[in-house]
Amino acid sequence: MKPRIFITRKLDEGVIAPLREKFDVRMWESESVKVPCEVLVKEVAEADALWSVLADSIDREVLMAGAKLKVVSNLAVGFNNIDLEVAKEQGIIVTNTPGVLTETTADLTFGLLLATARRLMEAEHTVRSGNWTSWSPMGYTGMDVGGATLGIIGMGRIGEAVARRAKGFDMRILYHNRSRKMEAEAEHGFEYVELDTLLEEADFVVILAPYTPATAGLIGARELGLMKNTAVLINVARGGIVDEAALYEALKNGDIWAAGLDVFATEPVPKDNPLLTLPNVTVLPHIGSASIATRLGMMTLNAQAITDVLEGREPDNRVV
Ligand code: GLV
Repeated sequence: MKPRIFITRKLDEGVIAPLREKFDVRMWESESVKVPCEVLVKEVAEADALWSVLADSIDREVLMAGAKLKVVSNLAVGFNNIDLEVAKEQGIIVTNTPGVLTETTADLTFGLLLATARRLMEAEHTVRSGNWTSWSPMGYTGMDVGGATLGIIGMGRIGEAVARRAKGFDMRILYHNRSRKMEAEAEHGFEYVELDTLLEEADFVVILAPYTPATAGLIGARELGLMKNTAVLINVARGGIVDEAALYEALKNGDIWAAGLDVFATEPVPKDNPLLTLPNVTVLPHIGSASIATRLGMMTLNAQAITDVLEGREPDNRVV
């Protein structure tokens, strides 16, 4: 009997077809509707490999159902949706898709930063809705990006790629990270600072840290209070790193100037999330790595990792 793979979303057949020759591939039928938990548990019970997406909660219940499960490969660089402790305990390998998405995610980050600073979504909406009645001297005026100070929280591969882009905009680059990046500091002049200093000095604060117990709620009322009232917050990491209620208050009261959010504490973001009522918030549906080439590249990494594990080889990009 061929080993069984369960894929939690409908994925590109070009990537999946080669797997079908060697494995019994079962795939959830929808690209956009999440597989219900009871279906997931049932499928995992029969699977040797699970190919998940970041919207799936691969928790204890799911992992414990996998009587012969050897690997979970996640279509994301983040893996906070997977209970790593249980995976480790059960001897289940977990892999992710770093590297291939670095530049694409940095592009989106910088795009969101520019769009938020220059109010592009608001301005676009005015044109489309027929409300562009006159050129106005102070209409849609925003914040300058060129020459401003950028503060990056979480200086991994994507952080460095964002910082390289920022250099082209003559920005001063501050960063805060668990560890110093001496090489990048020497080569590019990035400055390591404590988190509070970064928040006080940056015109643009960009969150790129992984979501862990240490970063959950990292940016709350106190931290937002340290930021300039002209500052812009960009979150492209995970929604739970920012206290959304505190962010709403800070934006509403003018404690900070604007926010660009690609991620939310609950995704898809509920329609009644108060942040969606504010004009100074630019929102996106978690699309950091969403270029055609990158998403296919990520899928190729998952397919390879699953193949490696099922054929007894050590996979690349192993998390546990
Ligand atoms: C996206 O958020 C990812 O983790 O790849």
